[in-house]
Amino acid sequence: MTEADVPRGMELTAQAGWNQTSLDWLRCLALEPDGCFVWEEHGLVVGTVTACRFGPVAWIGLVLVDAAYRRRGIATALMEHALTYLVDGRVETVRLDATPLGRPVYEKLGFVAEYELTRYEGVWPKGADPALSPVEAADRAFWPELAAWDRAATATDRLPLLDRLFTEQPTAVRLLRGQGTVEGFSAGRPGRLAWQVGPCVARDEAAGILLLRDALSRQAGQSVFLDVPTANEAARRFLEEHGWRPQRMLLRMRRGKPLRDNLALMWSCFGPEKG
Ligand SMILES: CC(C)(COP(=O)(O)OP(=O)(O)OC[C@H]1O[C@@H](n2cnc3c(N)ncnc32)[C@H](O)[C@@H]1OP(=O)(O)O)[C@@H](O)C(=O)NCCC(=O)NCCS
Repeated sequence: MTEADVPRGMELTAQAGWNQTSLDWLRCLALEPDGCFVWEEHGLVVGTVTACRFGPVAWIGLVLVDAAYRRRGIATALMEHALTYLVDGRVETVRLDATPLGRPVYEKLGFVAEYELTRYEGVWPKGADPALSPVEAADRAFWPELAAWDRAATATDRLPLLDRLFTEQPTAVRLLRGQGTVEGFSAGRPGRLAWQVGPCVARDEAAGILLLRDALSRQAGQSVFLDVPTANEAARRFLEEHGWRPQRMLLRMRRGKPLRDNLALMWSCFGPEKG
């Protein structure tokens, strides 16, 4: 895959009803330029996959096959190619977030179910929030500390991903400070259909609620998506009390060594293409 394939990638994401923008495709390419692949039929890109390494943990994303070309083994072949690329001696765990259509393809390749994510969709009402919030803008000096929080939640060192996301959307990077220490953060980005809040990592329920309230009220009046670990009941309770509704489910899957991520800290994930 090269940058020239991104417009066609956007056609495939639109066909599948996904939320990614060109920036999401370009971010995948920038993180692992040699790890993103396309399948062509007579010069037309009909399938895609992206792979990205964060040290011993790798992520697979943007597995898409044009509806007219499905059930011919294209996704399986693309996955096998990406998995071969990832065998570099250091990758111990490969992860992805599967849709119901993707799950059987991945199971046949040895991926196992880890946990469920609930995609929530909603709109925060305009003017419904008090102006006073302890959540503040996070300038660049804080970014390594935020990445450390992200690592505590995801068991993955995603600094290159976060650094790029934060640079793209610096005003969406928000943090909560307690008595001198950071208690959590949130970030976000625009989507084709809705603003995506994530990642959002919080020390405890009080911090999670303040961070989500801040992130959602800053997007008041427009559609927002959040991918919340279904096991994080506090996050789901807060969203459902404020009118957010489950839209679909994703299944986090793994091949290789299990990771010790902390779902209680994870109030909203980055999104399906990078977890
Ligand atoms: C999920 C998706 C990528 C699968 O792509 P695909 O190219 O159809 O996948 P494959 O052909 O490799 O495998 C799909 C099925 O076709 C079967 N198949 C493979 N080759 C076949 C062939 N020659 N003839 C008939 N069936 C075949 C596979 O066994 C598999 O069967 P199963 O669903 O019963 O397990 C595609 O449906 C898609 O793009 N969906 C929308 C986006 C999405 O959900 N992506 C997954 C993100 S996690």
